[in-house]
Amino acid sequence: MEIRPFLVEDWPAVWGILEPAFRAGTTYVFSPDISEEEARRFWVDTPSQTFVAVLQGTIVGTYFIKPNQPGLGSHVCNCGYVVDEMYQGRGIASTMCEHSQKVAVEAGFRAMQFNFVVSTNTGAIRLWNRLGFETIGVLQGAFAHPQLGDIDALVMYKKFAE
Ligand SMILES: CC(C)(COP(=O)(O)OP(=O)(O)OC[C@H]1O[C@@H](n2cnc3c(N)ncnc32)[C@H](O)[C@@H]1OP(=O)(O)O)[C@@H](O)C(=O)NCCC(=O)NCCS
Repeated sequence: MEIRPFLVEDWPAVWGILEPAFRAGTTYVFSPDISEEEARRFWVDTPSQTFVAVLQGTIVGTYFIKPNQPGLGSHVCNCGYVVDEMYQGRGIASTMCEHSQKVAVEAGFRAMQFNFVVSTNTGAIRLWNRLGFETIGVLQGAFAHPQLGDIDALVMYKKFAE
């Protein structure tokens, strides 16, 4: 699998992966009726960099990296990852997260923070734990899950080695 920077022509494939995840409304905070333009702004235009994971010519996953805060908090990055439903459970997110940590260190970031990991997203939590992220705090009832009502979200953090 190759992980490479996003190219403009990748957007339809990337949106094809993001749209079902955002519409489901169970893992990201976006309104389930988010527009394609808004999604693109968030995933591609605002981040410092966006990447795609390509398996045998097919885009199967994507992630972005950006500073989590401005100014004096900008040495901590934030990333978001989505893998095509059909390709989940094959290590694609693990590979993308490891890649993102290398990109982060090379770009001078000194830590990575996930601001809002939905507590029912147990597969993701297990994965981030395995890759060295610690749960820093629980935001009680912070996520208005479309089916479950208000449930917790986690703040997860990994400080890179000096
Ligand atoms: C969460 C998400 C990114 C994980 O992506 P993924 O590519 O399925 O993740 P991985 O395959 O790396 O890891 C998931 C599981 O597959 C297992 N796995 C890894 N390589 C594997 C392989 N070659 N064959 C079978 N299983 C494998 C992992 O061990 C892990 O198992 P576990 O759940 O028992 O810990 C994906 O489910 C997704 O896009 N979800 C919707 C959006 C989302 O939740 N994003 C994260 C927000 S915090």
